[in-house]
Formats: sequence, structure tokens, C-alpha cells
Amino acid sequence: MTLQLGDIAPDFEADTTEGYVRFHEWTEGSWAVLFSHPKDFTPVCTTELGAVAKLRPEFDRRGVKVIGLSVDPVDDHRVWANDIEETQGVALNFPLIADPDRKIAGLYGMIHPNADDTLTVRSVYIVGPDKKLKLTLTYPASTGRNFDEILRVIDSLQLTANHSVATPADWRRGEDVIIVPSVSDEQAREKFPTGWKTIKPYLRFVAEPQKTD
Ligand code: BEZ
Repeated sequence: MTLQLGDIAPDFEADTTEGYVRFHEWTEGSWAVLFSHPKDFTPVCTTELGAVAKLRPEFDRRGVKVIGLSVDPVDDHRVWANDIEETQGVALNFPLIADPDRKIAGLYGMIHPNADDTLTVRSVYIVGPDKKLKLTLTYPASTGRNFDEILRVIDSLQLTANHSVATPADWRRGEDVIIVPSVSDEQAREKFPTGWKTIKPYLRFVAEPQKTD
């Protein structure tokens, strides 16, 4: 079964580099990012885990918990973590799930047999405080992900959750956002008392609201 946006992120229990984790309990009603790696001791994954460790303060600032997954045992993860610290100049500072029997990979559809029948592809799942999937992303094993893009999506999702706005193409923090079509002009007057710019009745831009979380 393919997981779709709005589905509850499947719960699981697993050994990680930071101890045993029950996923739903671990998220504690926070936003969360779960992302998978094909295998331990692989070059692209090594750079990705370093990149996320460097960005940890940015995830913390947004109230987002981060957890990685690789289909190898936790003892291998611990040895690999030393390599990550040595080569990327930063220690792993979030849990890395061990999924040697590929149970979680199967639950989330992280294995795409026509690409590779044993290794996971590079999947990303953003989970909301309601435990529902807000984003799913699938990259090939050979392409390292852009984690600034993941942070950009989290900013957009959090604005939508709190302010009934959407974000336009290539939006960056501080730029104008879009009033969602389900908000009438009358409702918008209440929500955005300082006004907005109407380009078309369905295309209304407003200054980025201040984040409340
Ligand atoms: C890597 O992480 O470097 C990688 C893993 C599987 C296939 C290709 C690259």
C-alpha cells in the first residue's frame, strides 16, 4: 500500500543509535522528519548525515525532531558515526534507526524493487504534530538531498497550519505569501487587517505573517 499525504505515519518500534524508539511516542506531538538511507558506509549518505547534523539547530528552532534510517544493524551505525564525525566535522546528533530486517522500510514503502530490491531509496517524510504525513519525497540513491529545501517546506507547512496561507514557487522566508482560496475577502479582512494585494481574485499576496510557534 502506498502511503499518501494525510495518512497517519505508521507507528513502529526500533533500535537506534540513541536507544529503543517507539516512533509515535518519540515524536511527542512535535513535527518530525524521518529520512532513509540506502546503506551504511556509503559516500552520499555520509555527506547527508553530516549535513543534517550541521542543520540540527535549524530543525530545533522550528520544533522539528529528526530521525534517520539505514538498513544495517545499530553496531554498524555506531562505527559509521565515527567516520561521519571524522569526515564531515560534526558528530551525529539525532537517532539513526537500524532496520536490518527491513520492517520499517516495508511499512513506509522505502524499497522500490525496480530500482534496487534490497536497499532503501532516499525517502523523506515530514510528519505533523497530528502524526499525519505532510510531505513525502523520493530521491534516487545516487543523488544527495537538499536539506535547505526540507527546511523551506517545513516553514511553508507551519505557516499554512497557523495562518491559512500558502507559499508561491521558490518562496523564501520573508517574502510575500498567498492567501488560500478557501479564505474569502471578508475573512481575509479580519485575518490580515493591514491589507493584501489582489492580482486576480484567486491570486492574493500578503506579507508573511509572524510565526506563532
Ligand atoms: C551512497 O550513499 O553513496 C550511495 C548508496 C547507494 C548507491 C549509490 C550511492
